[in-house]
Amino acid sequence: MNEEKVTTDIITLTRHVLDEQRKHKEASGDLSLLLNAVQLGCKFVATNVRKARIGLAGGAQNVSGEDQKKLDVISNEIFINALRSSGKVAVMVSEEDEDAIIVEEGLKGKYCVVFDPLDGSSNIDAGVNVGTIFGIYRVNEGSAGTIKDVLRPGREMIVAGYCMYGSSANMVLTVGNGVNGYTLDNAIGEFILTHPNIRIPSRGKIYSVNEGNAKYWSEACQEYFHSLKFPPEGKNPYSARYIGSMVADVHRTLLYGGIFAYPADKKSKNGKLRVLYECFPMAFLTEQAGGKAITGLERVLDVVPESIHSRCPIFLGSKEDVEDVERLYKKYS
Ligand code: AHG
Ligand code: MN
Ligand code: MN
Ligand code: MN
Repeated sequence: MNEEKVTTDIITLTRHVLDEQRKHKEASGDLSLLLNAVQLGCKFVATNVRKARIGLAGGAQNVSGEDQKKLDVISNEIFINALRSSGKVAVMVSEEDEDAIIVEEGLKGKYCVVFDPLDGSSNIDAGVNVGTIFGIYRVNEGSAGTIKDVLRPGREMIVAGYCMYGSSANMVLTVGNGVNGYTLDNAIGEFILTHPNIRIPSRGKIYSVNEGNAKYWSEACQEYFHSLKFPPEGKNPYSARYIGSMVADVHRTLLYGGIFAYPADKKSKNGKLRVLYECFPMAFLTEQAGGKAITGLERVLDVVPESIHSRCPIFLGSKEDVEDVERLYKKYS
């Protein structure tokens, strides 16, 4: 009988981050400890999403005017508690909290974490994939940790990632040296490296956008998506895929290529997605995987958010597909 081969040299997320950190002599190990707190939050949410299908939490609304589902609220609390008690965080920004959270002295660290504890939550009752999105800045030199440490361009982020909760929990992470994917092994409670060095194809065949907003799009945006649906003779139209959870739509785009977009429109001049904890982390990951992310005319990572819940338009994905958008926006600018 052939013996099942047991892997005994497991590359966990923690080990992989430590390996990366060892390449930087000055590294203190603080980032690994901080990422352990993030991992705890993701494991907690993964467990509760599985048990979820919990209804609305008394119709509370968050600062973006959205119904907070019970899971939005408890996911938010687990991340805040895990990050605060890590002792590595100075400032936190969450989609579910109106103001930035400044960690009290004694527990204050040197990192700022911006996060969307539960992305795609309107889909939770339908069993569609949801996720957590996060980005990390180091506090500015000499700063004690204030809101100024997070109202910065995304290009100053040092870590970005998401965890998608579906049939399994998939963490996708960059520490500025490429993108790696990890799958939660529930038996041992560890995220295991399963998708090393994720690279997005230079061009795809899928577009992902909420066409229900098409009536309000700019001419450039209309012309772009029309060109995908009615290509020149001899070219095939792109396929349409839209899940409505940014984490799921971006995950598919990173793996299969193509373009994901939440454009500005006449109703929402900055689109819907929030700069700090949705657009920046996803743009950072996309660029690290060899893709591009623009607002239309500008690199997303060069945007400077005016407030912690500012929004910006986003087109992200395969380099050549995003460059087609850029050409059209320039033509109409
Ligand atoms: P969240 O659930 O964190 O509020 O985010 C929802 C976002 C994002 O996940 C998704 O891409 C977008 O909302 C979908 O918006 P539409 O339903 O307007 O297409
Ligand atoms: Mn929301
Ligand atoms: Mn979101
Ligand atoms: Mn959310």
